[in-house]
Amino acid sequence: MDAFDLIIQGGTVATASDTFRADVGIRNGKITALADNLSGATRTIDATGKLVLPGGIESHAHIEQESATGAMTSDDYYTGSVSAAFGGNTSIIPFAAQHRGQSIDDVLDLYHSRASSKSVLDYSFHLIVSDPTQEVLTKGLPKAFEGGITSFKVFMTYDKMIVSDEQMLDILVTAREHGALTMVHAENNAMIKWMVKRLIDRGYTKPPYHAVSHPAAAEAEAISRGIALASYVDAPLLIVHVSSEAGANLVADARRAGKKIFGETCPQYLFLEADDLDREGAEGLKYVCSPPLRNKQTQEDLWRHLQAGTFHLYSSDHAPYRFDETGKLSNGPNPPFTQVANGMPGIELRAPLLFHHGVNKGRITLNQFVAYTSTNAARLFGMHPEKGTIAIGSDADIAIWDPALTRTITADGMHDNMDYTPFEGHSLTGWPVTVLSRGEIIVDQNKLYAERGRGQFVHRRPFDPVGYSSPTPPEMNPALNFGARLLD
Ligand code: URP
Ligand code: ZN
Ligand code: ZN
Repeated sequence: MDAFDLIIQGGTVATASDTFRADVGIRNGKITALADNLSGATRTIDATGKLVLPGGIESHAHIEQESATGAMTSDDYYTGSVSAAFGGNTSIIPFAAQHRGQSIDDVLDLYHSRASSKSVLDYSFHLIVSDPTQEVLTKGLPKAFEGGITSFKVFMTYDKMIVSDEQMLDILVTAREHGALTMVHAENNAMIKWMVKRLIDRGYTKPPYHAVSHPAAAEAEAISRGIALASYVDAPLLIVHVSSEAGANLVADARRAGKKIFGETCPQYLFLEADDLDREGAEGLKYVCSPPLRNKQTQEDLWRHLQAGTFHLYSSDHAPYRFDETGKLSNGPNPPFTQVANGMPGIELRAPLLFHHGVNKGRITLNQFVAYTSTNAARLFGMHPEKGTIAIGSDADIAIWDPALTRTITADGMHDNMDYTPFEGHSLTGWPVTVLSRGEIIVDQNKLYAERGRGQFVHRRPFDPVGYSSPTPPEMNPALNFGARLLD
């Protein structure tokens, strides 16, 4: 019998820490050897001149999810995961959204049934909690943790999803107790609503006013409050889709102070800008997302923070709504900015955009690229080392990249269920050409080989605070509180 099912020969392997020349031997879906000149396989892939990288882990995507306003994303778990696979990803962690009145059991049953029959990639979910009743806090969330869902998102904005500060503290403490990681969409709801009203009252309804109504100050206020709440109860907190310099500075300050605060930014904040909202006719609606696009200076500020390590994650925030009556234009051909689904697609382009603008332009190293697109997500979300690295014993989740391949982005060339891409016409060098999931070739030379529903649910471990520790705040220390255990 052959020693390996598959050998990837002659490539350059890169992890979050090292780059080296090695063949990769794979058996039973696992990496079993890394060495020079391996032989004895049923099948080989010639990776000469190519990069052999851990498959990407997309940890911020809205797939087959109803938004707060009831709009359904255009991608289901099949098209969303296929598009992710063509973008070099091998795992996805989209959201399972609790809308008010829903039990956590019902939400998770629904999303498990949506994903299990369709996903071509391994998957998990972050739970969105919008209704933290006692039942949810004491039964729903603990059961979700036991079921391997060890992270969830809360919103500090959107009337139908927002949690109050008290509710957020309840959620943070529950998460802390079980070892879960809380994620937050941080924008100040009142600041946004106040400005929206003033703009609409004065007749300013076009897409660029979406950005005016979501100022960086609203993001900074909410991030600052989120950090204060999490630090107060000594709970870890991940600030998702940070879009502004003020927001990034707050994350950096908190990290410097030793707090368990993590940050994520997204391609749209690095590669697009608020001027895109001012495109011809209704075209600007394609660029409405929250937080909104900012300006060129902010792009540079966010790059600086990415280079400096402020952010742990770089995610697409894939929130696909088509440019038709099922999506962006569901309230007519020219809706006011307040009546358009927020979000844009990007799951397939996340990693190629960072490779081209980051690695090729010398802004980040190849190893940082691997960390931002794969390893850090695996670590933060309890999937490492099975996922997120190339090591003996890890799942053979691998993307083979051609660093010299240049392609121009078109909506037709994407594999999602969208009718536009915000990155139309951008030319990128460096693309994944072959993608393996648990040793199985699922994408090769722009062709899909994956069977619908082949993806497996990943039962994630709790958030691991080792290396992320900060002291328990004095006011929460039982010894100083007459023996009261305030965090239980
Ligand atoms: O506009 C966006 N980002 N829509 C998706 C939902 C969210 O807040 O992440
Ligand atoms: Zn969000
Ligand atoms: Zn999102």
